Amino acid sequence: MKKLEDYVISIPDFPSPGIIFRDVTSILQDGEGLHLAIDQLLEMVKDVDFDVIVGAESRGFIFGMPVAYELHKPFILARKPGKLPRETVSMDYELEYGTGTIEMHADSIKPGQKVVIIDDLIATGGTVEAIAKLVEKLGGQVVKICFIMELAGLKGREKLAGYDVESAIIYE
Ligand code: PRP
Ligand code: ADE
Repeated sequence: MKKLEDYVISIPDFPSPGIIFRDVTSILQDGEGLHLAIDQLLEMVKDVDFDVIVGAESRGFIFGMPVAYELHKPFILARKPGKLPRETVSMDYELEYGTGTIEMHADSIKPGQKVVIIDDLIATGGTVEAIAKLVEKLGGQVVKICFIMELAGLKGREKLAGYDVESAIIYE
């Protein structure tokens, strides 16, 4: 039986020299790969007491939403700047190849809510660290952070020290 990592195609030197791109679309384009990925995320949160799932634009939406749907939880979008129409909170961060800004609606997390953050991949950890800070700024508590893939060499986990972090596939 195929494991989740068997579905991942790795592309050297994309989008710039020296980066090995772990292509999540290669999981999604196989029905069994997609099913396995969502099942593994469901397994990661099965014993976690939480209220809300937050997904990171854009690939975090793909993986967070089916989990929220299956568990009857709300799904909150952490988006790139200028996309959300109502009052937002915003945080800048650094990426493996560039910089970014992430925004959430100011009313999307209620004080005291327990939050699971889901994204496809952790590289430097900057994106999800910024989202965790936004959740906390809104009074939420991050109880678990789930990834499909982790690029361990970039030490993103160090940025997320203190959080419960789990990844389905870890690349050294
Ligand atoms: C990628 C990926 C994660 C983030 C990981 O998103 O989907 O969200 O980078 O990098 P980090 O751990 O260094 O922050 P990207 O910003 O490329 O957006 P996309 O999902 O819309 O392609
Ligand atoms: N996002 C940031 N770094 C990445 C990588 N190496 N592969 C896939 N997605 C990424």
